[in-house]
Amino acid sequence: MTAQIIDGKAFAAKVRVSVAEHVATLKAKGVTPGLAVVLVGEDPASQVYVRNKGQQTVEVGMASFEHKLDASTSEADLLALIQRLNKDPKVHGILVQLPLPKHLNSDLVINTIEPAKDVDGFHISNVGLLGTGQKSMVPCTPLGCLMMLRDHHGSLAGLDAVIVGRSNIVGKPMAQLLLNDSCTVTIAHSRTRDLQSVCRRADILVAAVGRPEMIPGDWVKPGATVIDVGINRIERDGKAKLVGDVHFESAAKVAGAITPVPGGVGPMTIACLLANTVTACCRSLGLPEPAGLTA
Ligand code: GUN
Repeated sequence: MTAQIIDGKAFAAKVRVSVAEHVATLKAKGVTPGLAVVLVGEDPASQVYVRNKGQQTVEVGMASFEHKLDASTSEADLLALIQRLNKDPKVHGILVQLPLPKHLNSDLVINTIEPAKDVDGFHISNVGLLGTGQKSMVPCTPLGCLMMLRDHHGSLAGLDAVIVGRSNIVGKPMAQLLLNDSCTVTIAHSRTRDLQSVCRRADILVAAVGRPEMIPGDWVKPGATVIDVGINRIERDGKAKLVGDVHFESAAKVAGAITPVPGGVGPMTIACLLANTVTACCRSLGLPEPAGLTA
Protein backbone atom coordinates (compact mmCIF):
# COMPACT_ATOMS: atom_id res chain seq x y z
CA MET A 1 0.00 0.00 0.00
CA THR A 2 1.15 3.55 -0.63
CA ALA A 3 -0.35 6.20 1.59
CA GLN A 4 -2.30 9.18 0.35
CA ILE A 5 -0.23 12.30 1.01
CA ILE A 6 -2.15 14.93 3.00
CA ASP A 7 -1.03 18.21 1.42
CA GLY A 8 -0.85 20.73 4.27
CA LYS A 9 0.51 23.45 2.02
CA ALA A 10 -2.54 23.31 -0.27
CA PHE A 11 -4.90 22.97 2.71
CA ALA A 12 -3.34 26.01 4.41
CA ALA A 13 -3.77 28.03 1.20
CA LYS A 14 -7.51 27.16 1.24
CA VAL A 15 -7.78 28.20 4.90
CA ARG A 16 -6.10 31.55 4.06
CA VAL A 17 -8.60 32.13 1.21
CA SER A 18 -11.46 31.51 3.61
CA VAL A 19 -9.85 33.82 6.22
CA ALA A 20 -9.38 36.53 3.57
CA GLU A 21 -13.09 36.28 2.61
CA HIS A 22 -14.13 36.74 6.25
CA VAL A 23 -11.70 39.64 6.63
CA ALA A 24 -13.27 41.33 3.57
CA THR A 25 -16.76 40.91 5.09
CA LEU A 26 -15.57 42.42 8.38
CA LYS A 27 -13.87 45.32 6.60
CA ALA A 28 -17.14 46.04 4.76
CA LYS A 29 -18.65 46.48 8.26
CA GLY A 30 -15.83 48.92 9.14
CA VAL A 31 -13.70 46.52 11.21
CA THR A 32 -10.18 45.37 10.34
CA PRO A 33 -9.07 42.32 12.36
CA GLY A 34 -5.68 43.02 13.95
CA LEU A 35 -2.97 40.68 15.24
CA ALA A 36 -0.20 41.84 17.57
CA VAL A 37 2.93 39.70 17.75
CA VAL A 38 5.47 40.27 20.51
CA LEU A 39 9.04 39.04 20.07
CA VAL A 40 11.57 39.40 22.89
CA GLY A 41 15.21 38.94 21.92
CA GLU A 42 16.91 37.78 18.73
CA ASP A 43 16.41 34.01 18.51
CA PRO A 44 16.91 33.40 14.74
CA ALA A 45 14.18 30.76 14.38
CA SER A 46 11.70 32.99 16.24
CA GLN A 47 12.61 35.93 14.00
CA VAL A 48 11.78 33.84 10.90
CA TYR A 49 8.42 32.73 12.38
CA VAL A 50 7.49 36.27 13.36
CA ARG A 51 8.38 37.62 9.91
CA ASN A 52 6.26 34.92 8.22
CA LYS A 53 3.35 35.60 10.56
CA GLY A 54 3.49 39.33 9.82
CA GLN A 55 3.63 38.79 6.03
CA GLN A 56 0.72 36.33 5.98
CA THR A 57 -1.37 38.54 8.28
CA VAL A 58 -1.06 41.43 5.82
CA GLU A 59 -1.66 39.13 2.80
CA VAL A 60 -5.13 38.14 4.09
CA GLY A 61 -6.00 41.82 4.64
CA MET A 62 -5.59 42.01 8.43
CA ALA A 63 -3.60 44.61 10.39
CA SER A 64 -0.26 43.39 11.76
CA PHE A 65 1.34 45.00 14.80
CA GLU A 66 4.87 43.82 15.56
CA HIS A 67 6.55 44.60 18.87
CA LYS A 68 10.23 43.65 18.91
CA LEU A 69 11.75 44.06 22.34
CA ASP A 70 15.30 43.83 23.52
CA ALA A 71 16.41 40.52 25.10
CA SER A 72 17.01 42.39 28.37
CA THR A 73 13.42 43.75 28.57
CA SER A 74 12.09 43.59 32.12
CA GLU A 75 9.06 41.52 33.05
CA ALA A 76 7.26 44.68 34.22
CA ASP A 77 7.75 46.35 30.83
CA LEU A 78 6.56 43.26 28.94
CA LEU A 79 3.47 42.92 31.16
CA ALA A 80 2.72 46.64 30.68
CA LEU A 81 2.85 46.18 26.88
CA ILE A 82 0.46 43.21 27.07
CA GLN A 83 -1.94 45.19 29.22
CA ARG A 84 -1.87 48.00 26.68
CA LEU A 85 -2.61 45.53 23.83
CA ASN A 86 -5.42 43.97 25.92
CA LYS A 87 -7.15 47.37 25.96
CA ASP A 88 -6.40 48.35 22.35
CA PRO A 89 -9.61 48.02 20.26
CA LYS A 90 -7.57 47.64 17.02
CA VAL A 91 -5.95 44.47 18.40
CA HIS A 92 -8.14 41.33 18.32
CA GLY A 93 -5.34 38.77 18.75
CA ILE A 94 -2.13 38.81 20.80
CA LEU A 95 0.71 36.32 20.42
CA VAL A 96 3.89 36.34 22.48
CA GLN A 97 6.51 34.31 20.63
CA LEU A 98 8.01 31.49 22.73
CA PRO A 99 10.52 30.64 24.06
CA LEU A 100 11.06 33.79 26.12
CA PRO A 101 14.45 34.71 27.60
CA LYS A 102 15.02 32.85 30.87
CA HIS A 103 14.55 35.83 33.20
CA LEU A 104 10.90 36.13 32.11
CA ASN A 105 8.14 33.95 33.61
CA SER A 106 6.34 32.56 30.53
CA ASP A 107 3.31 31.36 32.50
CA LEU A 108 2.80 34.79 34.05
CA VAL A 109 3.28 36.51 30.68
CA ILE A 110 0.82 34.22 28.86
CA ASN A 111 -1.75 34.45 31.66
CA THR A 112 -1.64 38.27 31.45
CA ILE A 113 -3.07 38.14 27.88
CA GLU A 114 -6.82 38.77 27.80
CA PRO A 115 -8.23 35.23 27.18
CA ALA A 116 -10.52 36.46 24.36
CA LYS A 117 -7.41 37.79 22.53
CA ASP A 118 -5.22 34.75 23.29
CA VAL A 119 -4.99 33.45 19.71
CA ASP A 120 -2.39 30.86 20.79
CA GLY A 121 -4.91 29.30 23.19
CA PHE A 122 -2.25 28.99 25.90
CA HIS A 123 -3.96 31.05 28.65
CA ILE A 124 -5.05 28.89 31.56
CA SER A 125 -8.71 29.95 30.98
CA ASN A 126 -8.62 28.69 27.40
CA VAL A 127 -6.92 25.45 28.49
CA GLY A 128 -9.74 24.94 31.03
CA LEU A 129 -12.48 25.79 28.55
CA LEU A 130 -11.07 23.35 25.96
CA GLY A 131 -10.69 20.66 28.64
CA THR A 132 -14.36 20.99 29.58
CA GLY A 133 -15.57 21.06 25.96
CA GLN A 134 -16.54 24.75 26.08
CA LYS A 135 -15.95 27.42 23.45
CA SER A 136 -12.30 28.56 23.68
CA MET A 137 -9.35 29.78 21.67
CA VAL A 138 -7.63 26.59 20.44
CA PRO A 139 -3.83 26.20 20.01
CA CYS A 140 -2.96 26.63 16.34
CA THR A 141 -0.94 23.48 15.56
CA PRO A 142 -3.46 21.00 17.03
CA LEU A 143 -6.31 22.96 15.38
CA GLY A 144 -4.55 22.55 12.02
CA CYS A 145 -4.14 18.80 12.63
CA LEU A 146 -7.83 18.51 13.56
CA MET A 147 -8.91 20.33 10.38
CA MET A 148 -6.87 17.93 8.22
CA LEU A 149 -8.19 14.88 10.10
CA ARG A 150 -11.83 16.00 9.80
CA ASP A 151 -11.31 16.72 6.12
CA HIS A 152 -9.83 13.27 5.52
CA HIS A 153 -12.18 11.18 7.68
CA GLY A 154 -15.40 13.15 8.02
CA SER A 155 -16.46 11.91 11.46
CA LEU A 156 -13.67 10.87 13.86
CA ALA A 157 -16.11 9.23 16.31
CA GLY A 158 -14.93 5.91 17.74
CA LEU A 159 -11.49 5.97 16.13
CA ASP A 160 -8.46 4.98 18.23
CA ALA A 161 -6.13 8.00 18.41
CA VAL A 162 -2.61 7.80 19.81
CA ILE A 163 -0.64 11.00 20.39
CA VAL A 164 3.08 10.60 21.01
CA GLY A 165 4.18 13.63 23.04
CA ARG A 166 2.63 15.42 26.03
CA SER A 167 3.55 19.09 25.48
CA ASN A 168 1.19 21.91 26.46
CA ILE A 169 1.47 23.34 22.93
CA VAL A 170 0.59 20.19 20.94
CA GLY A 171 0.15 16.85 22.75
CA LYS A 172 -2.29 17.79 25.50
CA PRO A 173 -4.58 20.10 23.47
CA MET A 174 -4.55 17.59 20.58
CA ALA A 175 -5.82 14.94 23.00
CA GLN A 176 -8.61 17.23 24.20
CA LEU A 177 -9.69 18.07 20.64
CA LEU A 178 -9.78 14.41 19.57
CA LEU A 179 -11.66 13.48 22.75
CA ASN A 180 -14.19 16.25 22.00
CA ASP A 181 -14.60 14.62 18.54
CA SER A 182 -15.31 11.27 20.28
CA CYS A 183 -12.04 9.46 19.57
CA THR A 184 -10.65 6.97 22.08
CA VAL A 185 -7.48 8.82 23.03
CA THR A 186 -4.11 7.66 24.36
CA ILE A 187 -1.25 10.04 25.13
CA ALA A 188 2.11 8.26 24.94
CA HIS A 189 5.45 9.77 25.97
CA SER A 190 9.08 9.02 26.74
CA ARG A 191 8.18 6.76 29.70
CA THR A 192 5.47 4.76 27.87
CA ARG A 193 6.12 1.00 27.93
CA ASP A 194 6.12 -0.86 24.61
CA LEU A 195 5.54 2.27 22.54
CA GLN A 196 5.54 0.23 19.32
CA SER A 197 2.46 -1.78 20.38
CA VAL A 198 0.70 1.37 21.58
CA CYS A 199 1.35 3.10 18.24
CA ARG A 200 0.23 0.05 16.26
CA ARG A 201 -3.23 0.28 17.86
CA ALA A 202 -3.81 3.73 16.38
CA ASP A 203 -6.27 4.54 13.60
CA ILE A 204 -4.93 8.09 14.01
CA LEU A 205 -1.28 8.45 15.00
CA VAL A 206 -0.06 11.95 15.89
CA ALA A 207 3.70 12.27 16.39
CA ALA A 208 4.79 15.36 18.36
CA VAL A 209 7.99 14.54 20.19
CA GLY A 210 10.73 16.44 18.36
CA ARG A 211 12.94 13.41 17.69
CA PRO A 212 13.95 12.91 14.05
CA GLU A 213 12.36 9.84 12.40
CA MET A 214 11.84 7.99 15.69
CA ILE A 215 8.63 6.28 14.51
CA PRO A 216 9.34 3.67 11.80
CA GLY A 217 6.81 2.10 9.43
CA ASP A 218 6.47 -1.10 11.46
CA TRP A 219 5.02 0.94 14.35
CA VAL A 220 2.13 2.04 12.10
CA LYS A 221 -1.15 0.11 11.79
CA PRO A 222 -1.90 -0.70 8.12
CA GLY A 223 -4.28 1.94 6.75
CA ALA A 224 -3.80 4.36 9.68
CA THR A 225 -3.72 8.15 9.27
CA VAL A 226 -0.35 9.54 10.38
CA ILE A 227 0.00 13.21 11.35
CA ASP A 228 3.65 14.19 11.75
CA VAL A 229 4.05 17.38 13.79
CA GLY A 230 7.85 17.12 14.07
CA ILE A 231 10.10 19.61 12.28
CA ASN A 232 13.68 18.48 12.88
CA ARG A 233 16.76 19.90 11.19
CA ILE A 234 19.31 17.17 10.46
CA GLU A 235 22.36 16.77 8.29
CA ARG A 236 22.42 13.87 5.83
CA ASP A 237 25.06 13.23 3.17
CA GLY A 238 26.59 16.59 4.08
CA LYS A 239 23.31 18.41 3.38
CA ALA A 240 20.89 20.17 5.75
CA LYS A 241 17.47 18.49 5.68
CA LEU A 242 14.10 18.83 7.44
CA VAL A 243 12.57 15.58 8.69
CA GLY A 244 9.58 14.74 10.88
CA ASP A 245 9.23 12.52 13.94
CA VAL A 246 8.06 9.71 11.62
CA HIS A 247 10.31 7.81 9.22
CA PHE A 248 8.38 8.92 6.14
CA GLU A 249 9.52 6.38 3.51
CA SER A 250 8.72 3.29 5.60
CA ALA A 251 5.55 4.74 7.17
CA ALA A 252 4.13 5.79 3.77
CA LYS A 253 4.24 2.13 2.66
CA VAL A 254 1.92 1.10 5.53
CA ALA A 255 -0.28 4.10 6.36
CA GLY A 256 -3.53 4.96 4.59
CA ALA A 257 -2.67 8.67 4.68
CA ILE A 258 0.28 10.68 5.96
CA THR A 259 1.42 14.30 6.26
CA PRO A 260 4.88 15.00 4.79
CA VAL A 261 7.62 17.15 6.36
CA PRO A 262 7.95 19.81 5.10
CA GLY A 263 4.54 20.66 3.60
CA GLY A 264 2.26 18.92 6.09
CA VAL A 265 1.36 20.28 9.51
CA GLY A 266 3.84 23.21 9.37
CA PRO A 267 1.97 25.50 6.95
CA MET A 268 -1.30 24.88 8.82
CA THR A 269 -0.04 26.49 12.04
CA ILE A 270 0.15 30.08 10.76
CA ALA A 271 -3.06 29.58 8.71
CA CYS A 272 -4.82 28.61 11.95
CA LEU A 273 -3.32 31.62 13.75
CA LEU A 274 -4.98 33.82 11.12
CA ALA A 275 -8.21 31.82 11.49
CA ASN A 276 -8.11 32.31 15.29
CA THR A 277 -7.62 36.05 14.87
CA VAL A 278 -10.75 36.30 12.69
CA THR A 279 -12.64 34.13 15.18
CA ALA A 280 -11.52 36.37 18.07
CA CYS A 281 -12.56 39.46 16.10
CA CYS A 282 -16.04 38.04 15.31
CA ARG A 283 -16.59 36.98 18.93
CA SER A 284 -15.55 40.42 20.22
CA LEU A 285 -18.22 42.00 18.00
CA GLY A 286 -20.90 39.42 18.79
CA LEU A 287 -20.93 38.31 15.13
CA PRO A 288 -21.38 34.67 13.95
CA GLU A 289 -18.13 32.72 13.95
CA PRO A 290 -16.49 31.84 10.63
CA ALA A 291 -17.72 28.36 9.65
CA GLY A 292 -15.02 25.70 9.25
CA LEU A 293 -12.28 27.76 10.90
CA THR A 294 -12.92 26.79 14.53
CA ALA A 295 -12.92 23.56 16.53
N1 GUN B 1 7.05 28.97 19.45
C1 GUN B 1 6.98 27.80 18.76
N2 GUN B 1 5.69 27.51 18.47
C2 GUN B 1 4.95 28.52 18.98
C3 GUN B 1 3.56 28.80 18.96
O1 GUN B 1 2.71 28.04 18.46
N3 GUN B 1 3.18 29.96 19.58
C4 GUN B 1 4.07 30.79 20.17
N4 GUN B 1 3.59 31.89 20.77
N5 GUN B 1 5.37 30.57 20.18
C5 GUN B 1 5.80 29.44 19.58
